Amino acid sequence: PLPDYSPAIVIGTGYGAAATALRLGEAGVSTLMLEMGQLWNEPGPDGKVFCQMLNPDQRSMWFKNRTQAPLASFLWLDIANHDIKPYAGVLDRVNFGDMSVYLGRGVGGGSLVNGAMAVTPKRSYFEEILPRVDADEMYGKYFPRANTGLGMNQIDPQWFETCKSYQFARVSRKAAQKAGFSTTFVPSVYDFEYLKQEEAGTVPRSALASEVIYGNNYGKRSLDKTYLAAALGTGHVTIQTMHEVREIIQQPDGTYTLAVREIDVLGNVLSTKHVSTKYLFLGAGSLGSTELLLRARETGRLPALPEAVGQGWGTNGNVMLGRANHIWDTTGSLQSGMPALGIDNWNDPVHPVFAEIAPVPAGLETWVSLYLAITKNPERGHFTYDPVTDSAKLQWTSAQGQPSIDAAKSLFDKINSANTTIYRYDLFGDTRPFENRFTYHPLGGLVLGQATDDYGRVKGYRNLYVTDGSLIPGSTGVNPFVTITALAERNIERVLAEDVVR
Ligand code: FDA
Repeated sequence: PLPDYSPAIVIGTGYGAAATALRLGEAGVSTLMLEMGQLWNEPGPDGKVFCQMLNPDQRSMWFKNRTQAPLASFLWLDIANHDIKPYAGVLDRVNFGDMSVYLGRGVGGGSLVNGAMAVTPKRSYFEEILPRVDADEMYGKYFPRANTGLGMNQIDPQWFETCKSYQFARVSRKAAQKAGFSTTFVPSVYDFEYLKQEEAGTVPRSALASEVIYGNNYGKRSLDKTYLAAALGTGHVTIQTMHEVREIIQQPDGTYTLAVREIDVLGNVLSTKHVSTKYLFLGAGSLGSTELLLRARETGRLPALPEAVGQGWGTNGNVMLGRANHIWDTTGSLQSGMPALGIDNWNDPVHPVFAEIAPVPAGLETWVSLYLAITKNPERGHFTYDPVTDSAKLQWTSAQGQPSIDAAKSLFDKINSANTTIYRYDLFGDTRPFENRFTYHPLGGLVLGQATDDYGRVKGYRNLYVTDGSLIPGSTGVNPFVTITALAERNIERVLAEDVVR
């Protein structure tokens, strides 16, 4: 049962939330985490916690009638998606007109569904996006701390050269090198030793069974196995699942009362409860935390919230594309679901691109090289509050996605021309070669130093904090979870030292 009061509450259980809760717990602060999704630890009828990627069931998605996978089609056929029953599944896709945002739902947030790439941003770019954050401290202390806490590891480069499961990456590397571009290994929180054993056939397969966006049954060091396990281990942290925070109310004594909706796995509302706290940390992710504060400001519950709430949102320049390889350049039918290599052209003065070489884990030869490109798109969206649906609506137009395409095109046109290859036009539902209508990397909405002070303290209120991806101003130049975790580590250290009375 939910208590009436907890000294600290953390909303959400993703990266920022998990790092914050661990440090609160270690400091002896009694902390309640509220998560709207499920705890994913019970096997379903097939004996597995998560469903199969190639034959998904209701566990795949958060209350949808049909799966909505990023590769909408293959040879223009709608074979990727399947009808499912609406259920509290693990992957959500929030659709806002010209932009859809993929999110993880459950204990561990995005760590349950993501590609596990654990990349520390280039220092010069980090200094550019967050100039008021001390980079010496970040690179000397908090990035290493985050990588340790997350269980980051590196692939064995010799094994990479000979294994079956990264043939697709070696083919893409060859094509990039032919055009004069260099590649780099990408660190991961997927256990590469486990992956080796998967290929050797000595353990049950996960990354090699095409598992990724609907959850990994083995091998992945998701937050429930790292930060959150450690947080619970302190004895001061508890997690309440299937509880969605809807309202934040401030009492005359400065404490916060949350209105929390409890649902079951079919979406029935079981009850609305209230719980109060002194220290409130928002870790509901870029969409979740931004919506909570926007709603609080627009409904007059927290009227002193600044104008910057809901501003400065970006896609991290995400754009996906495929290239068609020559018939002799097979990518292999066995492909690891976890990327391990990226094309690093971030130093390009006009069109910086970091393109991760993504698998097409279809279980058969496709001759497709797939990429998720991270580009430096300067466009930013913002959120407005819609009173009819009581929700935040993202304002983002397709024209704002064009700079992402321009950058990716500049790189991949050169790769195609050096290799006499072409784009694939059959992957995204129509004939477009570039897909920029979704992002895996929603960032911003409550930007550090704008909606908050330089440590995530929300402007206008005491003891109210933002800990997650909404702090980052729309771009990190690499996959974002290491940056989110490291910033949360930095901010909670300061807040524990200066604000929290024990
Ligand atoms: P995050 O979104 O992780 O967690 C928020 C949590 O809060 C969720 O569990 C949600 O259910 C919960 N919540 C929301 N609103 C709530 C409310 N009102 N009440 C209660 N709970 C609420 N990044 C990377 O670095 N490397 C990678 O390889 C990838 N790959 C990738 C693939 C896919 C498919 C996706 C969807 C994403 C990635 N990412 C990624 C992105 C990465 O997962 C993402 O940036 C982080 O999970 C964001 O962390 P946050 O702490 O901001 O929130």
